[in-house]
Amino acid sequence: MEFKEIVMQRYATREFDGRMVEEPKLFALLDLIRYSPSAFNLQPWKVKVVTAAKIKALLRPFAHDQPQITTCSHLLVFCANTELERLADKVLEVMDLTGMPEDDIRRYEAMIRGYIGPMSPEQRLGFAREQVHIALANALNGAKSLGLDSCPMGGFEPAAFAEALFLPEEYVPVVLCAIGYGADTPHPKWRLPREEIFF
Ligand SMILES: Cc1cc2nc3c(=O)[nH]c(=O)nc-3n(C[C@H](O)[C@H](O)[C@H](O)COP(=O)(O)O)c2cc1C
Repeated sequence: MEFKEIVMQRYATREFDGRMVEEPKLFALLDLIRYSPSAFNLQPWKVKVVTAAKIKALLRPFAHDQPQITTCSHLLVFCANTELERLADKVLEVMDLTGMPEDDIRRYEAMIRGYIGPMSPEQRLGFAREQVHIALANALNGAKSLGLDSCPMGGFEPAAFAEALFLPEEYVPVVLCAIGYGADTPHPKWRLPREEIFF
């Protein structure tokens, strides 16, 4: 499928047919998410993959009772990973392993730590949140590229999800992505005209 077709055919799926996504396809999708770009390559995301029908049913009331939650195959709970220092450590470690000159690593370290070091907890969360939405975009278009449908969902209670899924406090639910096979008919796409967006 051409990328243009993927973009035009993807739609927010409000009802899935309940079929499970085959494991190889699921892993292919998870890899497309994993390879998303992020600032400083920090990858400040964690994605909880919810498969069990019982857990999906438990979560649905905390997402305005949206049917996508229980009809989808897999529910991806995209979380911001606010442990930026630990992620920075990993990035620097990999740079070292790949044989990057020490001076370059130290320069990068000063830049990265200078950027994230002074951040307040709210700023850390805001920073991670922004990156999570880039991974979400990969998930949505990536799903279509694999013949799957998806629905991004911001309408849910993050605190209730965190509690129900026993998430550690450094992982903050940001957005959901239901994936599976659509059972509804997409609405015609409406978007603002070019001249209202680009200036
Ligand atoms: C961050 C985000 C949150 C969204 N939250 C919801 C949601 O909670 N429930 C829902 O049905 N659709 C949700 N949507 C889907 C949008 O309504 C949908 O993408 C938009 O109307 C454009 O339609 P299309 O995706 O079918 O082209 C969300 C989309 C995004 C990007």
